[in-house]
Amino acid sequence: MSRSVIDILDLSTQEIESLIQTAEDIISHGDRYAHACAGKKLATLFFEPSTRTRLSFEAAMYELGGNVLSVTDAATSSASKGESVSDTARTVSCYADIIAMRHPKEGAALVAANNASIPVINAGDGGHCHPTQTLADLLTIRREKGSFSNLTIGLCGDLKFGRTVHSLINAMARYPGNRFVLISPEELKLPSYVKKDVLRENGIPYTQTTSLEKAIPELDVLYMTRVQRERFFNEEDYLRLKDSYILNMAKLKSAKPDLCVMHPLPRVNEISTDVDGDSRACYFKQVLNGKYMRMALIMKLLGMEENLA
Ligand code: NCD
Repeated sequence: MSRSVIDILDLSTQEIESLIQTAEDIISHGDRYAHACAGKKLATLFFEPSTRTRLSFEAAMYELGGNVLSVTDAATSSASKGESVSDTARTVSCYADIIAMRHPKEGAALVAANNASIPVINAGDGGHCHPTQTLADLLTIRREKGSFSNLTIGLCGDLKFGRTVHSLINAMARYPGNRFVLISPEELKLPSYVKKDVLRENGIPYTQTTSLEKAIPELDVLYMTRVQRERFFNEEDYLRLKDSYILNMAKLKSAKPDLCVMHPLPRVNEISTDVDGDSRACYFKQVLNGKYMRMALIMKLLGMEENLA
């Protein structure tokens, strides 16, 4: 079976380090990579809405000199005829060299990986995890803070359904000296399996609060998230919770001058646009960093690193 990345923990910290080195090298010598994946095809299978992640994977493959095949809508694919994820994965293995897949069901990417004969990258499985967003987040944290250790990391918003949050906590919990501040409404708290298996199991300090204002002064990183409307059972709850947290310049006044403000995007109202011009706003840098990390990951999984100019 090919090597797939379903969870961020499928990559060791050494492998993440080497992906970051590759991404940094791409940033400074992009030309060297222009033909790294020539003749290879990436299939993007997106059964849930996406702008950034799908285009980022596709741009990454094109910048490596490869090609892309794309399913952009479950309704126009055979999934709408009732085809299983495992049959889709077997089929696409006949056409492509690597798959990036997003699916509304938790565990769908794992099922695909178990049935495909080519590497599968999880581009988001329901409310579970989103490892390549975490790679984007990690490169951003490294570039902005210089380190993955001894940070106080605030995660704010929908910590229950936010898959990017679950993957980021798993990733940052492996480095020493980090503390988490979990900021959410009662109804959207971090699932207890993440608290128990990741935080408590490893003795990682964390606090839970409903107040962004109270938490902000101590943070080195603030990771804002969108309330995940598509995972709610009723619209009323969504409408009541959607604007729980709005970061604006007034709230940033009490933050550290070198706070790193992140958001996986898309944003709805979570960060007021007046923050965009502040030097602490890093969310559009995350977008670009995501493309570089996906380039590094695609090359690694295809074993194309030696193909460099
Ligand atoms: C995130 C996702 O899909 O989980 N988006 C992304 O990939 N950058 C976050 C979100 O949709 O809120």
